[in-house]
Parts: sequence; C-alpha cells; structure tokens
Amino acid sequence: METRAAEHDVALEGATLIAGVLEGLSAAPGSEEHFDVVSPAAFAAAGFEGKAGQILSVPHDTADAILFVGLGGEISFSSLRAASGNAIREVKTERAVSLLALSGIESATRAVIEGTILGGYQYRAYKTDDDALDAALVEVVGAAPAELTSAAVLAQSTILARDWVNTPAKDKAPEVLAQSFASAAADVGVAADVWDAAKIRSEELGALLGVAAGSRRDPRVVILDYHPEDAVGHLALVGKGITFDSGGLSIKPSSSMEEMKDDMAGAAAVTAATVGIARLGLPVRVTTITPLTDNAVGGDATRPGDVLRPVAGPTIEVLNTDAEGRLILADGLGLAMRYEPDITVDVATLTGAAAVALGKQVAAVFGSGPDVSARVLSAAEQAGEEFWEMPLFRGYRKSLDSNIADIKNISGTRYGGAIVAALFLAEYAGEGPWAHLDIAGPARSQETSGEFVKGASGVAVRTLIELAKGMAEAD
Ligand code: BES
Ligand code: MN
Ligand code: ZN
Repeated sequence: METRAAEHDVALEGATLIAGVLEGLSAAPGSEEHFDVVSPAAFAAAGFEGKAGQILSVPHDTADAILFVGLGGEISFSSLRAASGNAIREVKTERAVSLLALSGIESATRAVIEGTILGGYQYRAYKTDDDALDAALVEVVGAAPAELTSAAVLAQSTILARDWVNTPAKDKAPEVLAQSFASAAADVGVAADVWDAAKIRSEELGALLGVAAGSRRDPRVVILDYHPEDAVGHLALVGKGITFDSGGLSIKPSSSMEEMKDDMAGAAAVTAATVGIARLGLPVRVTTITPLTDNAVGGDATRPGDVLRPVAGPTIEVLNTDAEGRLILADGLGLAMRYEPDITVDVATLTGAAAVALGKQVAAVFGSGPDVSARVLSAAEQAGEEFWEMPLFRGYRKSLDSNIADIKNISGTRYGGAIVAALFLAEYAGEGPWAHLDIAGPARSQETSGEFVKGASGVAVRTLIELAKGMAEAD
C-alpha cells in the first residue's frame, strides 16, 4: 500500500472517501462538507453513533462511497490511529482518500498514516487465493509530506517485524532468519556481521550453545552496527531470537506451544527498529545483537541440572530448559557490554508471568534506575504503545542462588516470574543504564481492531525508534 499527501481538491472519482465522526454525530474537522450526504435519521437507522470502532458506508455523489468512521469521544493521536485502521479494512476500492488528518491536532498526519498502514496490514504469504482487493493507494488530505514520510517509516518498520514473527518456524531457521535480518539491514546501508556455529563456539557463547544443543538447526548471532558520523550517543539493543520454543526437555504442553514461533519477536523488534532508525538517518549509533536459536528436544539437548558458561558473568545451573530466553540474552547482553554503550535495551517474549501481570495489550518495562524506565515510558508514549513499569525488586534475587553454580535459571516459585527473570538478566547487563522490555503479552494481537491485526503486532519497534529520536534530540 502506498500513502501519499494530497491537496483538498484531490480527485474523488472511483475512490473511497474516509471521514471522521465524533460520538454524538458531530463531523470531525475536514468532513463537514461531506456530512450532508447522510441524514441523522439514516445514521440512526444504521445504529451508527460515532462510537470508536463503528463504521458506516454510504453512497456519495462524486466518490465511490463515503466511509464514516467513529472516533469516539475525542480526537486524539490514538483515536485517529485506531479509526484509520478500522476504516482501511472496509475500503473496497483501489484508491482511498482520507480526511482524517484535517482534524488539526498535532501528529494527526502521523496517526492517520500509522493507522492506515498498520491496520491495512495482511500476512498473505501462505494464502493460495490471493485475489483480495486492497487499497493500493491512500491519499491523505492535508498531510505534511515530511511528517508523512517519517510516519510511514515507523509503520513500515513495524510491519517488517510483523512479517518475521508471522513466518512459520519451519521457514525461519536461525540461518535463514539471520540472512533475512542481514539483507534488511543491507537495504538501508547497515552492515551485518553474522556469526555461525563455529564462530559462536570460538567466542565461547556457552549459554546460547546450551540452548541450541537440542536442535539440528545451528544457531546464529547477528550483529548490526549503525554508526553515523554525526552520532551523539550510543544505544545497544539486544533481542531474544528463539525461532521456536518447544521448552526443550522441560517440554511445554501443546496448547502452550502453539504460539511459540513468536518467540523471536524481541529479535525482530530490535532489528526492525534499527532499520527504521537508519532509514530516518537519526544521529545515534545503534549496535544491535540478536542471538538466534531453536529451543528443541533432542539427544544432545541441555538437561535440567546442567551448567552453562555464558561469554561473561555468572555460570548458570539450568533447572528448567524452558527458561531459555534469559540464557541466550545472558550471552547477548555480555556481547553488548563490550561496546560500552550509553544505554542498553533488551526486548524479549520472556515470561508468561509478564502476560499474567499486565495482560495481552500492555508490555512490561524494567529499568536499572527510575531515569531509564522514565525514558522508555516517555518514548512509548510518543509512539502510542502501551508499556507499564514493573519493579526490579532486589529482594527476590536470592531465590536464584544455585547450589553448584553462580546462579540458577529459575526461582522455584511461579510468583513474581517476570521480576525474577529481569533480575537474572541484570546479572549480565553491566553497571550502566539498562532497560528490559518483556513483550510476552502484546507480541501477538488476539484480535483485529484499530491499528492491530490478529497475529504478530510488531510491538516495541516504534518505542525503540522514539527512544533513539529522544537521544538525538537530547544532545
Ligand atoms: N517464551 C516463553 C515465554 C512466553 C510465554 C512468551 C507465553 C509468550 C507467551 C519463555 O521462554 C518461557 O517458556 N518462560 C517460562 C519461564 C518459566 C519456566 C520460569 C514461563 O513463562 O512459563
Ligand atoms: Mn521457554
Ligand atoms: Zn521462550
């Protein structure tokens, strides 16, 4: 789908016109002149009240049809984004003209572009009947071209992550995914260093190797370094890249395994964010590390009770092979620390406990200090993504003490599981500013609504890009 800025006198013939309506049936700014094509009685007859999520298509004298889309009680970044997503899925013509950016609020263009691109997203790579008619071109009246371009980068980066996460595990072996990451980076001029199994062994990433031991598909580590000449700060990103999480010998029940192709959503998010940051040309150095491996069952698989040696930091007694994300992140964080970044952020579908705590629409953020979490939360706010801070409560740290190694990978209680996992990671994250984003809940959208489409969400991509923007501006 292409999005384009348009003037007020854009041709409407053959297009679907998209207009906003506030709850109580007042026309959103920009839609007034088209409002009289329908009478209040017709709205009432159709049960359309302008509530968020409501939509009504009626004939129009010039356009093919006019889609009235409910904004709910207010015009905001989030209501415009959701309405744009809801509208685009109802468009049956190849062209659409959106009046939603005329609302006059700040970031209206951005909201409309993001909602349109994200809400119109479909993952059709494995669909045979590909005759679905999509809007090929959406012209946004009143949009500022520069804002449109940057919003499109944010949305397209999110979609890049969605595509990777939606791909079946069969078709994203670590080797294959690493190549896909490297080629996406190359497209924006970022060089990728891909470590194969031999290199991973010689670099002694013992925790990653321990997780990979059960799979016939070899692990990879992808290292991206976006290093603009005018860089004002250095951000390190680390993403969990489990290409399928069976649980390993501590095998998952099949219902819990169904969605485990998603378990590389952290790696997808940090990679897609890096691509977006490079496309925007932000003056921030970004080093992105993604350890990629299956967590499989096999004769050579790591056993409960085995001890692994990550590249740096405490040795680990593995008591549950299903707590594998923290193992590969120990190595990923260890590598990141070599760069001495100004701030490190890891992103991971780490714990079911995070989803139990915050549900499927809110991501957890842990920070090494209140300033770090505050920066992530403010970036999330800018991005329009839902994050909530959780405490890195040190009191639970002793529950990770191991009998025979420096630390064990589970605590022995299911209470506070997301916090315990974050405390484990803290052992490998150095002394500098570090944030941990647990996206186990929102990595997958449960239903299609607004800018969300059932399946991979691409959560955290826009927040990370906003974080880099904030670093660039702070200087
Ligand atoms: N990948 C899972 C976490 C997960 C669960 C992500 C549900 C998305 C949805 C992770 O590797 C895992 O299995 N965590 C265990 C940890 C436990 C063994 C301490 C969990 O959450 O049950
Ligand atoms: Mn697991
Ligand atoms: Zn996992």
